[in-house]
Parts: sequence; structure tokens; C-alpha cells
Amino acid sequence: MSDASQIDLHRRPRRNRFSPAIRALTTETSLGINDLICPLFVKDGNDAPSEVVSMPGVFRYNIPDLVNEAGQLAALGIKAIAIFPYTNPSLKTPRGEEALNPGGLIPRAVQAIKKHFPGLLVITDVALDPYTGHGHDGVLNEQGYVDNDLTVKILGEMAVLLAQAGADVVAPSDMMDGRVRAIRKSLDREGLVNTAILAYSVKFASAFYGPFRDAVGSAQAAGTHLLDKKTYQMNPANRREALLEAQLDEEEGADILMVKPAGPYLDIIREVRNQTTLPIAAYQVSGEYAQIHAAARLGWLDLELTAFESLLSIKRAGADMVLTYFSKQIAQKIRG
Ligand code: PBG
Repeated sequence: MSDASQIDLHRRPRRNRFSPAIRALTTETSLGINDLICPLFVKDGNDAPSEVVSMPGVFRYNIPDLVNEAGQLAALGIKAIAIFPYTNPSLKTPRGEEALNPGGLIPRAVQAIKKHFPGLLVITDVALDPYTGHGHDGVLNEQGYVDNDLTVKILGEMAVLLAQAGADVVAPSDMMDGRVRAIRKSLDREGLVNTAILAYSVKFASAFYGPFRDAVGSAQAAGTHLLDKKTYQMNPANRREALLEAQLDEEEGADILMVKPAGPYLDIIREVRNQTTLPIAAYQVSGEYAQIHAAARLGWLDLELTAFESLLSIKRAGADMVLTYFSKQIAQKIRG
């Protein structure tokens, strides 16, 4: 039966979108609970959880509440959490010595979580910014420049301490040169051969970290939201340099490579995907989360649909796993 209104078309891609069933069969990318890593903030003391103003639904938890939250995430099927400290300002120093305190907040938090939920993968950040009064990720020299080699030595020690506390994965987020090799060597020297390194390989000097710095208090410490980390974090204009950073971390012994932020850098995720056989993580950072929440509050975007789409797009770009503050909500949505 010919219909006079039909145009002469030999390809109709809409056929593969005709019904829910055909759309399901032709789906190329999926977002599952196994893809999610939930960042969590921990604070000392017994106070109730405090919400981060610029990150609705994200709280700083004391250790018992953190353990409880970790348990809820594990019950939803989430496999991994990444914990970050809100350090008491009185413990911050120019050199960030608190980072090497075996009785510090993060080692205690890791021990508590692993005691209750040994199967939940715990990732700890390796960088000095939560512990330095100036908020930089390393130690400054007289010129105010972050001293690479001195900082790398400290990071090696910090990684060992975190692994000994029970962290399954250490995640250097500092962007110093050579820190992955130094950390691997330090871990191996201590027999910590099964502690993995998730390297923040391609981390841009991004304005999207603003709300995170509120959460850990590193912005207040420095007196500005726009703390300038351009001498170590990457220039957002650079793609080839991203590949160099990824290649070096792979050679130095990283187990997983990370790109951060995620949404504004989908092309970088894809480029790294094409270069490496290693798993790739992407960090949907605080500012990406805050943007979606802000628009949803204004009634301009649907929160859950936008969050899901943003994460699916990060997977489609080539990420195997995503650190996202939406983890719990998305896991609940996926479970129905
Ligand atoms: C610092 C660190 C940052 C984030 C994770 N680790 C911020 C920064 O580099 O200043 C940002 C995460 C986020 O914005 O969600 N070591």
C-alpha cells in the first residue's frame, strides 16, 4: 500500500526508536549501580550532620554518622566511597603535618568504616589541601610556589599511612609530577602491594571546584573561592597535555586513571579512553552538582532526569566509573 504522503526515504533511523522494546535493544550505553562512587565528607566531634550550603543534600558527617551513611550506600549496592575530611582549622599548618597523623580524622574514619563494612571499597584522597592553612595541595617554598619534590615525599608517606589504616585505594589528587611512582614505591616497600592507585591524572584548574572547597573548608582558609592552582592543575585549554599526563601516570603505575571535572571535559575522557587500556574514572565535581541543583530549585530543570542524563553522558564518553554526589539518589532510582 503506497501512501501519497510518504517521501522517498531509504533510511529511517526512527524505526529503532519506535517502541520501548526496540529502544531497549538498541541502547549503547548504560548507567548502573556498579558505576557509582560516592564522595562523602567527614568531620570530627559529635555534632549532627551539617549540610554544605552550596551542595544541597550533601552533608559533613561525624564518624558514627558516616559509618551509618556508608552502610546505607552499601545496602543500595554501591561498591565504593571516597572520603574527604573537614579539618578543624586549628589543625591546619603551612606544611599540613596533620596529613601524617596516624590518629587523624581520615585514618579513624577508614578504620570505623572497614570494621563495619569490610566489603565496601574505601578510597582516600592523597593531597595536602585539607591540612594546609593556605589551602594549596602541597608545601610552598619562599616564593609561594608549590615545591614538587618535597610535596611528593610527603604524599608517599601519607599514602602508606592511609593504606595501613585500611584504605583499599589511594587517590592522589594533587597533580605533582612523579607522585604516582613515589606512592607505588612507598606502598610496595611496606608490603602494601594490593593497595590500588586511582590517579587524578587529568585534573584541570577548574572553577567548578568552588562548592567542594566550601565543604572541606579550604576556600575559607585561603580567603577566596577562586584559589589559584594553575601552577599544578592543568590549563582547561589543553587536550594534548591531558594525554601526556595520562600516559605518565600509566607508566608510573596507576591502576585507574581519572579525568576531572567530567561534564565539561567529555572530549578529554574520550581521548584518554582511546589512548589507554586502563579503567577510567571521571569525577562529576561539586560545581556540576550545584549547577543542576540550582536550576532544579528554580524549577528550570528536572533534577533526577538531568542528573541521570549527565551521568549517562559521562559513561558514553568512555568512563568506566563516576564519582558523583548524586550516587545515592541515582542508586535509589535505578533500584526503583
Ligand atoms: C583537592 C581536591 C579538590 C577536589 C577533590 N580533591 C578541589 C581542588 O583541587 O581544589 C574537588 C572535588 C569537587 O569539586 O567535587 N585535592
